[in-house]
Amino acid sequence: MAYPKPTRRSWAEPFKIKVVEPLKTTSRQHRVKAIEEAGHNTFLLRSEDVYIDFLTDSGTNAMSDYQWAGMMLGDEAYAGSKNFYHLESNMRKYYGYKYLVPTHQGRGAEHIISQILIKPGDFIPGNMYFTTTREHQERAGGTFVDIIIDEAHDPDSTHPFKGNVDLQKLEGLIKKVGAKKIPYISVAATVNMAGGQPISMENMKAVRKLATKHGIRVILDATRAIENAYFIKLREKGCQKKSVAGILKELCSYTDAATMSGKKDLLVNIGGFLAINDEKIFDEARNMVVVFEGLHTYGGLAGRDMEAMARGMEEMVKEDYLRARIGQVEYLGQKLMDWEVPIVKPIGGHAVFLDARRILEHIPQDKFPAQTLAAEIYIDSGVRTMERGIVSAGRDPKTGEHRHPKLELVRVTIPRRVYTQAHMDVTAESVLEVHENRKRIKGLKMVYEPKYLRFFQARFDRI
Ligand code: F0G
Repeated sequence: MAYPKPTRRSWAEPFKIKVVEPLKTTSRQHRVKAIEEAGHNTFLLRSEDVYIDFLTDSGTNAMSDYQWAGMMLGDEAYAGSKNFYHLESNMRKYYGYKYLVPTHQGRGAEHIISQILIKPGDFIPGNMYFTTTREHQERAGGTFVDIIIDEAHDPDSTHPFKGNVDLQKLEGLIKKVGAKKIPYISVAATVNMAGGQPISMENMKAVRKLATKHGIRVILDATRAIENAYFIKLREKGCQKKSVAGILKELCSYTDAATMSGKKDLLVNIGGFLAINDEKIFDEARNMVVVFEGLHTYGGLAGRDMEAMARGMEEMVKEDYLRARIGQVEYLGQKLMDWEVPIVKPIGGHAVFLDARRILEHIPQDKFPAQTLAAEIYIDSGVRTMERGIVSAGRDPKTGEHRHPKLELVRVTIPRRVYTQAHMDVTAESVLEVHENRKRIKGLKMVYEPKYLRFFQARFDRI
């Protein structure tokens, strides 16, 4: 085989591999049995039966030697661990909020802030929902209202900031229900369910302005905010000369608090936090965390976990790292686009999202095309991906009906610093194979449906 001469110079990962974890290959027959036992749900597969694991980028990151060295400096005191103070000072340095409440992961922070701020009957506008975030908002008695721009629901729109808030939708809601019924605006940086799409600095500023006018708080989901900051640097006018670290801090400065899943941007395997500017809310959160997570200087984490997060912050802002991170996702996505496999455009920050609605256009949404596609890719190659469509969207708590999201996607999510370009090639080839044989694929029926966040544990049978 001849390789064409390059038209540009390549870049490579700014690290080399020191420890390796062997991967296991399996037979097709083995995988057919495994996915059947898992009820055609990739969440229920044993990791041992998976070859390349693109289920999620959450907690699946490879830590650096610097982070591992920090683990040995874990101060496992019940109270006042020095690692807490390191995390607090790095949070202030990179995110800029005043107060820190550590939590075991992102949803721990979402739980606390939702319980403190939301009253039954309230409305929480957000730039598209995230599963756990909305669940906690609804548990607190709130109703989530989607105020993302329409382009976010269109997989083919190439809008550079599909995570943007539609200011008219937001203003319309404020007019309709009144500012008093809106405890905060929930803004995510790189919107996961839209395909890893960023929000622009200009839009964030405008949201802040409107919120201030009506006396409403803005709370950021900062889970993948550094990846958002990198997109701003690449795409937004006037931002090319700014540092990504500076962009992140500016983005946060337009918000009042943040929930954080450290398992993404912070390059660790577990951890999260709530960051707050308002002293009163902080007091309440610090009190609540002792009931649900642990003392306010560990929040359900070991000292070593807090140290790894603190060090992860120092590494995430490095621009050669971000280039390789986002570049790897783009490499996989570009390959699939070149081969005419329908994916969400533009290519996202943490994942390539396959457009299952178009790939399996002969399967109606209530036969779970994305769930089906994820199972088929697993059977083909042992690559594990995730459904992000009607199953993830769940049921409307008021009507009990399925929600029918416009986006019916399979997420091919890339862990940070874990896989190589060759793994991307193998994955792209498997997706292509399934795509080429798509006509023979049939849908699924749901045979077990858990009450909360059903996508994690639901089971399906072939039709
Ligand atoms: N917010 C966003 C945008 C997320 O993507 C996640 C987790 C959370 C909050 C909750 O954080 O898992 O630490 O409790 N996303 C994972 C994923 C589960 O696969 O996308 P957590």
